Amino acid sequence: MPVPLLDLRAQHATIRDEILPALEALVDSQLFILGAPVEQLEREVAELSHTKYAVGCANGTDALLLALRAVDAGPGSEVITTPFTFFATAGTIHNVGAKPVFVDIDPKTFNIRSDLAGAARTSRTKAVIPVDLFGQMAPIEDVAKALPGIPLIEDAAQTIGARRSIDGEWRMAGELATIGTFSFFPSKNLGGYGDGGMMVTNDEGLATRLKRLRMHGGAKQYFHDEVGFNSRLDALQAVVLSAKLPHLAGWSAKRRENAAYYDAAFADLPDVTTPYIDASNESIFNQYTIRVEKRDALQAHLKNAGIGTSVYYPLPLHPQPCFGYLGYKKGSCPEAERAANEVLSLPIFPELTRDQLDEVVAGVRGFYGR
Ligand SMILES: Cc1ncc(COP(=O)(O)O)c(C=O)c1O
Repeated sequence: MPVPLLDLRAQHATIRDEILPALEALVDSQLFILGAPVEQLEREVAELSHTKYAVGCANGTDALLLALRAVDAGPGSEVITTPFTFFATAGTIHNVGAKPVFVDIDPKTFNIRSDLAGAARTSRTKAVIPVDLFGQMAPIEDVAKALPGIPLIEDAAQTIGARRSIDGEWRMAGELATIGTFSFFPSKNLGGYGDGGMMVTNDEGLATRLKRLRMHGGAKQYFHDEVGFNSRLDALQAVVLSAKLPHLAGWSAKRRENAAYYDAAFADLPDVTTPYIDASNESIFNQYTIRVEKRDALQAHLKNAGIGTSVYYPLPLHPQPCFGYLGYKKGSCPEAERAANEVLSLPIFPELTRDQLDEVVAGVRGFYGR
């Protein structure tokens, strides 16, 4: 039985009757740009994230771009981040004219090391972007403590609805950041039927500026205080996302159940390192990522068995050719480099059946002759 890495059609089938009437009503209204559906989703995401404000935008990449502009990161400034992330995290730093400064990851969680982030501070440091990788929050409070006074942009593209217990209190992804950013790319736990993104913050001034920046920088139409972007969240996407949002917690819980099933099934395989979830975290498992030495051979074996997998990410960002100008040498972020050679993400989506889970388990165990 083939098992895809992700089956969006299986999810759509479970909510088709909720989504299509909502889309039909929006099309009949012909009100496609911002408006009530986007404002409703902004209220819902702010509530979920325990923040005062949420501002929709075109995608998760733009959410980072707008956030960086809102904290005045630009030419002459540096932004500290992790090299083990999707390209957008650092691409946006470059695109605002700032310099990405990469520091290594914790090999257990794949998230940025706060001590190294603190040590990378210079007089030019304008922001830090920890990434909540694979659905697990980074140690946001430690990063903030290591860089006092530096705006913290939390790239929570993969992690909406995840939480972390800090001083005995559950804190949501995005909640403690200066600005938290989300992506609604279809493969995310809360995925649209196209692109979408959002920024959350507790700072009224930043929320106002983000709204301005997403509309060409003008507070009033045709009058521009600064040069911004055209980066609005499509009302069609907002309607889809508001219909899906009530399901998010259940879907993420199902992903955690699937993860626990794999954890137990691989527990006696010394060659397989299952995901490490920091005891303070509740992951939403956007990915279930194992570490193995013979990664490429295992991936090929699973492919032959019809099992979809992916490598997030095969090359960290500091050795990417486009960042050659930064001068990072091989070995400068050794844990990120090692992770890139060993990670493999397995199917984890909520609609996986028990038979499909067993197929994946059999595929992995078969590779090790167990
Ligand atoms: C960590 C991370 N940052 C940023 C993004 C960018 O989001 P989008 O694809 O919506 O632009 C993604 C999405 O893939 C991501 O995984």
